[in-house]
Amino acid sequence: MSERVRRATVEDAADLAWLAAVTFPLACPPGSTRADQQAFIDAVLSVERFTEYLADPARVLLVAHDDAEPEPIGYTMLVEGEPADVEVRAAITLRPTVELSKCYVLPGHHGQGVSAALMAATLDAARRTGARGMWLGVNQLNERAQGFYRRSGFVRVGTKHFQVGNRLEDDFVLELTL
Ligand SMILES: CC(C)(COP(=O)(O)OP(=O)(O)OC[C@H]1O[C@@H](n2cnc3c(N)ncnc32)[C@H](O)[C@@H]1OP(=O)(O)O)[C@@H](O)C(=O)NCCC(=O)NCCS
Repeated sequence: MSERVRRATVEDAADLAWLAAVTFPLACPPGSTRADQQAFIDAVLSVERFTEYLADPARVLLVAHDDAEPEPIGYTMLVEGEPADVEVRAAITLRPTVELSKCYVLPGHHGQGVSAALMAATLDAARRTGARGMWLGVNQLNERAQGFYRRSGFVRVGTKHFQVGNRLEDDFVLELTL
C-alpha cells in the first residue's frame, strides 16, 4: 500500500468534514458524551467551517490517500501565528510558532504508515511557513496519539484546557523544533 499526501483544496471541504466527524470522537476521553462531541463537530468541523479554513491564508490543510480508495483517509491542519490561548502562550518556547491543530487518520488505517507520511509532509509544510516551532494540544488520556507524537519528535511543555460541548477537557501541550 503506498500513501500520497497532497494539499487540500476547496473541493475537499465535504470529504474533510466527513473525515473529521468520523475521527474526532476517537480523540475524546471516555467521559465525553456523544452530545458534547456532536456540538463540537457542528460548530467547528462542518463543511462550512472547512470551506473557511481552506480559504484562510494562515492555514494549511493536507490530506492523505492510499491507492485503495478515492477519498482521503487522513488529514492535518496547520494554523500559523501566535496562539490566542494564554496557557499555550506560557507553555511554548519557540517563536514564530505554528499549531498542528488537527491530525486525524481513519481508524482502519492506523499503525500502517499513513500517519507517518502525513506527519512528514506536515513538517515540511510547517517549515515552509518560516516558523521555528510547532505546537499542539492532545487530550491527557489519548495515549495512542501521545505515542505517535513522541515518536515524531514532540516533547511535553505544559498543559491547557479544551472545550468540547459542555465539558472542559485536560490537554497536554507538546512542542517540536522545526
Ligand atoms: C493519532 C494518529 C494520527 C496516530 O496515527 P497511528 O497510525 O495510530 O500512529 P502509530 O500507530 O504510528 O503510533 C501510535 C503509537 O501508540 C501506540 N499505541 C497503539 N495503541 C495504543 C493504545 N491503545 N494506548 C497506548 N498506545 C498505543 C502504538 O504502539 C504506537 O507507539 P510507538 O510509536 O511507540 O510504536 C491516529 O491514531 C489517529 O488518527 N487517532 C485518532 C484521532 C486522534 O486521536 N488524533 C489526535 C488528536 S490530538
